[in-house]
Amino acid sequence: MEINKIFVAIVATVIIVVGIGKISDLLYKTEQPDQVAYKVDAPEGSDEIKKTSESTVDLSGLMALADLSHGQAVFKKCKSCHSIKKGGKNNIGPALYDVMTRNSGGLTNYKYSKALISHAKKWTFEELNGFLLKPKTWIPNNKMGFIGLKNDKDRASVILYLNQNSDNPRPLP
Ligand code: HEC
Repeated sequence: MEINKIFVAIVATVIIVVGIGKISDLLYKTEQPDQVAYKVDAPEGSDEIKKTSESTVDLSGLMALADLSHGQAVFKKCKSCHSIKKGGKNNIGPALYDVMTRNSGGLTNYKYSKALISHAKKWTFEELNGFLLKPKTWIPNNKMGFIGLKNDKDRASVILYLNQNSDNPRPLP
C-alpha cells in the first residue's frame, strides 16, 4: 500500500514536470519567431543610425584629433598594400596619392572589385571615415583585406595624411 502511494506520487510528479515542460515549449515556440525578427532588425537599424550620426555629427571634431606625423606612422599599416608618393605604383591595393580628389574605384590602371567601382562616391572626409572605420561594412564585398581603424585619432590622422599627399588638399571640415 505505502509503496503504491509512493509510486503514484512519483508518476504524478513526472507527469506534472513533463506537462510543464511541454507547455513552456509551446509558449517558447510561439514567441520565438517574433523575437528573432526583432533581434535581426534592431542591430541593423541602430547601425544605420550610427553611420549617419558618425558622419554628419562630428567630422570636424574628429579631424580636430588629427596629427600629420601620427598619420604617417599609422600609414605603416597600409604600406604593405598601398603606395602614397606622387607617381607611386599600384600594389596589392591602388596607389593612394591624390585619392581624395577621385571617386572610389577611380583609377583606370587598377583592377578594382565591382563593389568599389559601383560605390562610385567621391573620397570625402566622410566617406574615408566610414570606410576606414569598417571597410567591410561601409562597402560590402570590397576586396581590401584590412580590418579597419577603430581608434578615432588613428583614423583622423591617416585621413589627414591622405589629404595632404595630394596636389590639391581639401580644406578640413
Ligand atoms: C592587405 C592589403 C591592404 C591594406 C593593409 C590596406 N588596403 Fe586599402 N585597399 C586594398 C585593396 C585590395 C583595395 C581595392 C579594394 C577593391 O577594389 O575592392 C584597397 C582600396 C583602398 C582605398 C580606395 C582607393 C580607390 O582608388 O578608390 C582606400 C582609400 C584605401 N584602400 C585606403 C587604405 C588605408 C588608409 C589603409 C591603412 C589604414 C589601407 N587601405 C590598408 C588593400 C589594402
